[in-house]
Amino acid sequence: MSIAEEIKDRLDIVDVVSAYVPLRKAGRVYKALCPFHQEKTPSFVVFPESGTWRCFGACGTGGDLFAFVMKRENLDFREALELLAPKAGVSLAPPDQETSERDQYLDKLREINQAAALFFHSQLQQSPAGAVARDYLDKRGLDSAIIDKFQLGYAPEAWDGLLSYLRQAGRGYELADILAAGLIIEREYEDTGRVSHYDRFRQRVMVPIRDIRGQVIGFGARALTGDQQPKYLNTSQTPLFDKSSILFGLDAARQAIRAKGKAIIVEGYMDVLACHQFGEGNVVASMGTALTEQQLKQLRRYTDTIVLALDADTAGQAATLRGISQARESLDREWMPSLDPRGMLRFEARLAADLRIMTLPEGQDPDDVMRSDPEDHGRTWRSLVDAAQPVVDFYFDLVRQTEDLNSAQGKSAAVDQLAPLILEVSSEIQRAHYAQQLARLVQTDERTIERDLLRRASPQRAVKRQLPPDIDTPPIEADPDQPAPARTPARKPKALGNSHAIHLLALLVLQPGIFPHLQSELVELGVGSLDEDDFSRSEERSVCAALLAGQLDVADEWIDSDLAWQIEQLRAYGQRWPELSQQQLLKDLVDTVLRLRIDNLETRTRALPSLAQDAESEGNQEDAMIYRQLQGELSQHRRSLEQTLNIRTYAGRRKMTPSL
Ligand code: UTP
Ligand code: MN
Repeated sequence: MSIAEEIKDRLDIVDVVSAYVPLRKAGRVYKALCPFHQEKTPSFVVFPESGTWRCFGACGTGGDLFAFVMKRENLDFREALELLAPKAGVSLAPPDQETSERDQYLDKLREINQAAALFFHSQLQQSPAGAVARDYLDKRGLDSAIIDKFQLGYAPEAWDGLLSYLRQAGRGYELADILAAGLIIEREYEDTGRVSHYDRFRQRVMVPIRDIRGQVIGFGARALTGDQQPKYLNTSQTPLFDKSSILFGLDAARQAIRAKGKAIIVEGYMDVLACHQFGEGNVVASMGTALTEQQLKQLRRYTDTIVLALDADTAGQAATLRGISQARESLDREWMPSLDPRGMLRFEARLAADLRIMTLPEGQDPDDVMRSDPEDHGRTWRSLVDAAQPVVDFYFDLVRQTEDLNSAQGKSAAVDQLAPLILEVSSEIQRAHYAQQLARLVQTDERTIERDLLRRASPQRAVKRQLPPDIDTPPIEADPDQPAPARTPARKPKALGNSHAIHLLALLVLQPGIFPHLQSELVELGVGSLDEDDFSRSEERSVCAALLAGQLDVADEWIDSDLAWQIEQLRAYGQRWPELSQQQLLKDLVDTVLRLRIDNLETRTRALPSLAQDAESEGNQEDAMIYRQLQGELSQHRRSLEQTLNIRTYAGRRKMTPSL
């Protein structure tokens, strides 16, 4: 059994989901308010028998246990596996010796940084020399509660203050480790070849930088006087400290981010400290560089509303704009189904997060805003946060200021800049609003703009490629003392999931060359090409993604052992079928896709009557009608697929799909 299979076997989907949302039993299913969108009547359904879930409301998504956890926690498959394995009492591959040695080494570097933070903190609070730093922090309005909470410190002027503390008996850290932790500098004298070491941070206020678990991994060190350069000296790149993935203050902010439903990104350490001091705890800083994908991905675990605080004077600057577009690009997209004017289903990319821009008053940073009036208690700040603009509005303002909207070039430049942003807006009503606004801005009729937007929207679902994992994990069953178990498809194929799905994937894995033909045949039939959403189990989705990316031939090297195992199963299963001609095979594949979709639609429709009844008994006629309507639409869709299948069956000679 694959690890994923085993986890699903051991965990009850009802238990797992109800840890996040309260479920109510309704016949053979469980219902809840959908955790992925706002609603008043429950349209989120868990099917304990098949171990799947589906939202019949606005988001229309569904899947298995893994799909739920991945979506809810914003994890990839591997991470979901790591989260659920201990809950299921399944052990993932134990770390090999090299990995555990590396972990121990990193732990040691964290310990040294933690010791340094304690040293600096006690220097600040107790040493006579620390008075200069105490005065400085006092002058900047930082109170003792915030100094303690963030464990701020003082690095003395001496060349070996920290170094001799860390080398002292009792602690006795190795020079090499202190160096690797980023706390000292090594210098080699050219003439004699002698090597000496001295403290990296001297005569500065020390701000410890922590990872998400709160462990110190580095420092930002502020100059105490104007003539010290640079103003902030940071830990350089170390095995622990990677500037591009750190958000300063996230360990302290994450609860407030969840509670307030949004995260605010500011530029500076002092800004974070001031905000936290005044009770605005959902603020983190980006370490003075452009936002990176890793940083945003971390934030997205806690909220989908992200506010960027920008200085008024830098708001329109090229570097800032690049930062915003980089942020947009690294945020997840959701592929939303929508009907085009001809009634064809298409998928369009919509931002899965709400990115907003908050503009600060001219010449002020968040620290200044917080402290401009002691009686204000963060009121001004909160009103600025509330006034943060959606990215689209921000760009509308910007385009108004920067483009000559009376010239032809200015107009097309405006459309070029705004159209991609409008297309990403997830609410249809808002999209229509912005399209109108754009039409007015460039003084064109709305239909021209709509045509332009339609032309820009990608008609085909893009393929999300899975990147190779960087660690090659051995299969967990491997026991060096035991002969490897023969990997025959001992289990009945049924146990692998929907039999049509397995049949389909098995044949495709065996003959990936036919996949493009299948896709074009499906498109020609008018039923749309195969994609991940045809499958509800995460493993099947991964195999499908691999096929779409044309990566199956190297599968064994890059796919984690679990998926490789699945493919192997599929291969073994597929090999049992007799040789089919290309034509027979293609027909079989197309028919199987149709059957799979009919099955899926059936499952999806099953819960709808009871949902409608419930809504009705709660007096919610509107939702009841939506469910009835949806049921009608889905049933109609299913009937048309059945019809297509029937025509093909009678037109063709013999049914090719062997019954399972
Ligand atoms: P700012 O220059 O805006 O500093 O840099 P600040 O936060 O307002 O600091 P104060 O109020 O003068 O003390 C913003 C951020 O850019 C990084 C730091 O992370 C800083 O908080 N920075 C700035 C550096 O890393 N090095 C520097 O020399 C300057
Ligand atoms: Mn400042």
